[in-house]
Amino acid sequence: MDQLALTRAFTLLESGPVILLTTQDGEKSNIMTLTWSMVLDFPASFAISTGEWNYSYAALSKNRECTLAIPTVDLLDRVIGVGTCSGADTNKFEKFGFSKKPAKYIQAPLIKECVANIECKVVDMIERYHIIVLEGLAAYYDHSRLEQRTCHAVGDGTFIVDGERIDRREMMKSKLPDGL
Ligand SMILES: Cc1cc2nc3c(=O)[nH]c(=O)nc-3n(C[C@H](O)[C@H](O)[C@H](O)COP(=O)(O)O)c2cc1C
Repeated sequence: MDQLALTRAFTLLESGPVILLTTQDGEKSNIMTLTWSMVLDFPASFAISTGEWNYSYAALSKNRECTLAIPTVDLLDRVIGVGTCSGADTNKFEKFGFSKKPAKYIQAPLIKECVANIECKVVDMIERYHIIVLEGLAAYYDHSRLEQRTCHAVGDGTFIVDGERIDRREMMKSKLPDGL
């Protein structure tokens, strides 16, 4: 086996779906792109990593809520656009043609064009590691959408698109939560 630069080690683990995170601060809605995320527990506990270098962080820490919206591959270039400019000087919903849908429990909007959305509240902020712990309050999935494939960032500017899904539900039965 060849040596891999330690600085590239994270690319082996990063490939959760690319996410759009929305916030609402008074009248102002914003979106940022996020790939550093993980599931913490059933049924709906997640962690994300971001910090005060992003404009979204002020709204996240003040209002302690956000929506995680999951885009599909057809939206990738718009998603990268969202992640390479700032809500400080850009209305990203307008600029990138995303539509807001009201959430049920929080002010931060859902994104209509995304295949899935999760309304979340912030339950902890671990500042030392820039980790924000979220609890999902409600989730939505658009089964009517033709494109269902999500993108997974490698971390070096390349992306992996979902491929074949393999069913091992029977083998994993003892480890899966009821009703899944
Ligand atoms: C593909 C991609 C993935 C990103 N992942 C993260 C991430 O996990 N955490 C983070 O803090 N920023 C991440 N960013 C950067 C933010 O999305 C970017 O700084 C964004 O412009 C912040 O928007 P805001 O200043 O309006 O909050 C990512 C950007 C791209 C393009």
